[in-house]
Amino acid sequence: MSETTAAQPAAHRSAAYDSAFLRACRHEPVPHTPVWFMRQAGRSLPEYHKVREGVPMLDSCMRPELVKEITLQPVRRHKVDAAIFYSDIVVPLKAIGIDVDIKPGIGPVIADPIRTRADLQRLRPLEPGDVPYVTEAVGLLVDELGGTPLIGFAGAPFTLASYLVEGGPSKNHELTKAMMYGEPELWAELVDRLAVITSAFLQVQIEAGASAVQLFDSWVGSLAPDDYRRSVLPASSKVFDAVAHYGVPRIHFGVGTGELLGLMGEAGADVVGVDWRVPLNEAARRVGPGKALQGNLDPAVLFAPTRVVETKTREVLHAASALGTSGHVFNLGHGVPPNMDPDALSRLVAFVHEASAR
Ligand code: CP3
Repeated sequence: MSETTAAQPAAHRSAAYDSAFLRACRHEPVPHTPVWFMRQAGRSLPEYHKVREGVPMLDSCMRPELVKEITLQPVRRHKVDAAIFYSDIVVPLKAIGIDVDIKPGIGPVIADPIRTRADLQRLRPLEPGDVPYVTEAVGLLVDELGGTPLIGFAGAPFTLASYLVEGGPSKNHELTKAMMYGEPELWAELVDRLAVITSAFLQVQIEAGASAVQLFDSWVGSLAPDDYRRSVLPASSKVFDAVAHYGVPRIHFGVGTGELLGLMGEAGADVVGVDWRVPLNEAARRVGPGKALQGNLDPAVLFAPTRVVETKTREVLHAASALGTSGHVFNLGHGVPPNMDPDALSRLVAFVHEASAR
């Protein structure tokens, strides 16, 4: 099959092709602004805690029926416009044999961090056969979701590198940056290998039926633009290029990335995710024409009274309407906090739909 014939079915076969979410990603007119939430599946939901009881996080990602159930929970409850695949950014690393665990309340912990050239040998390419449970779970979900799109995702090379080099979560990413600044060739090879793994992980999800993908570069906001351009952009671009021919929207997200928004668009995304620090009309100026935007209500606003949530939500919708385009996907500026009242999220979805009805 040629690249072009392969591209058409991936984008068009899905029953979700005309959904508000995919239309907004493509800048097409929508009946209302679509909304979904990063980390909508998971700890804010009592039904999640119930089905996860006694199952370690990474084990849960390897059980297709459980993945299906957890992915669907927020769609049923909140009536969001898209599902996000329940998995984690470290799943492909575990699948190629990296000893990684997710410790509750801490995050991913790597038994033997990657710090030398010899360590790089452990980052072999990911084959679809390494993650059969992902292919199976995506297939089950696409059948069940019908017209609701499924978003696949992966961690971006910088954010994955930060866990691998530090050995776990870190505030300032000192060891990661020390490698990036001090051993640029080793660093370039590290992020290139991660780009290969991440590309394959996204391809598996798209091939199985995901109708959009999001690349999470959660911690890249700690870099200055010149360093991003030199040391990160080539690897992230490689990932976007590797999935471009499928024709599915590619979303690029990070936290604290106000100064990087233009470069993150340049890296190749169709949709740029914005945290709450930059209003969407200003973000649009920084990203430039031709890209849709996703965001950007401060998740903390949802802990305030409903009238405040509604005022702040209107401000986000207003800033987006000033773009003069339909290319807006409503989201929070970062993930749903675990202690969030799920009813506040359901009310927010209804409010976004109502306030943005065209
Ligand atoms: O609903 C969804 O968004 C889909 C599922 C999803 C998870 N992780 C499930 C999860 C997604 C998209 C991710 C991505 C992810 N994982 C990111 C990027 C997103 C972001 O927040 O910026 C990052 C940095 C990770 C790494 C990671 N995994 C962290 C920091 C944590 C939290 C650790 C903690 O307990 O505070 C995890 C664990 C994790 N991933 C949970 C879930 C539902 C919680 C596991 C549990 O139930 O204890």
